[in-house]
Amino acid sequence: MKIYFAPLEGITGMIFRQAYEKNFGGIDVYYTPFVTTRDGGIMKAKERKEILPENNKGICVVPQIMTNRAEDFCQAAEQMAEMGYQEVNLNLGCSSGTVVPKGKGAGFLKHTEELDRFLDAIFQHSNVKISIKSRIGFFEPEEFPKLLEIYEQYPVKELILHLRTREQFYKGAVHEECFLYALEHSKHPLCYNGDICSLEDVKRIQADFPGLHSVMIGRGFLKAPGFITGISSESWKKNVFRFLEDLEQGYKEAMSGDTPVLFKMKEVWTYLQESFPDGKKWFKKIKKTKKLQEYEGLIREIKCLDF
Ligand SMILES: Cc1cc2nc3c(=O)[nH]c(=O)nc-3n(C[C@H](O)[C@H](O)[C@H](O)COP(=O)(O)O)c2cc1C
Repeated sequence: MKIYFAPLEGITGMIFRQAYEKNFGGIDVYYTPFVTTRDGGIMKAKERKEILPENNKGICVVPQIMTNRAEDFCQAAEQMAEMGYQEVNLNLGCSSGTVVPKGKGAGFLKHTEELDRFLDAIFQHSNVKISIKSRIGFFEPEEFPKLLEIYEQYPVKELILHLRTREQFYKGAVHEECFLYALEHSKHPLCYNGDICSLEDVKRIQADFPGLHSVMIGRGFLKAPGFITGISSESWKKNVFRFLEDLEQGYKEAMSGDTPVLFKMKEVWTYLQESFPDGKKWFKKIKKTKKLQEYEGLIREIKCLDF
């Protein structure tokens, strides 16, 4: 079974991916956070940089596109193909209030006829394989069979299912019954996504869905990086601090001034706190820091903890 790192916009960019791979590994494919398209499918320079192969050396990456315009999708996919990518991923899951009203991401799931026409066009005209990352519906899981019927008409490289509706955002129970339905009714390779946070979760899903092609994990890897490799707690402690140093260094080199770097590190700790004793208490302190040096001082204290 393949292990995928989920795209997390604002977090799992090229610097994060390199730092994670160096210190933890165990990932078959990293899906990039979505790139948006502009007229003519041209990506912003910053987004292009994120997916350039020279910035993603040594790891397997699939770039993700979010748009509802077939022409833009195809042009962006073509640019990615020119970079050497053989697969691109279509975002049909983003639940953001700025994206959904534009009919993009999960917002596209409400417009099934348009979605069908869009898929028809992109599968006809793209010269790369296309995988889809989709939620199971917009309002309710009962929408899923209709969506799957649409996906089944096209040669989807892989169907990644975040087993929630848009209305659920990132909370509430995942709808495993939809995954079961997909296994019974789909010819596509399927990937399970949603709330996998431990090796036990992975084993349980593997046992419940034998022969499963892949699982995609996001927040679980942010909360407990490296859990998938069964790393010992001693090695983990060493690696996690090196990971934090690599991240900080990477951001320092890429950003101007300490403030955005500090912001990035705080965001990582939003999740990572869960792996540390008294993590909440430490995170509160980290959140209050105003200077990178203060943050670094706290990390030195945490490093000395006996755990
Ligand atoms: C902060 C954040 C950013 C996200 N950005 C993206 C994105 O760019 N593209 C995407 O397909 N999903 C995105 N997602 C959804 C995740 O990839 C994933 O589907 C979701 O978090 C459920 O998986 P998990 O429980 O393993 O985290 C994002 C989720 C979060 C919390």
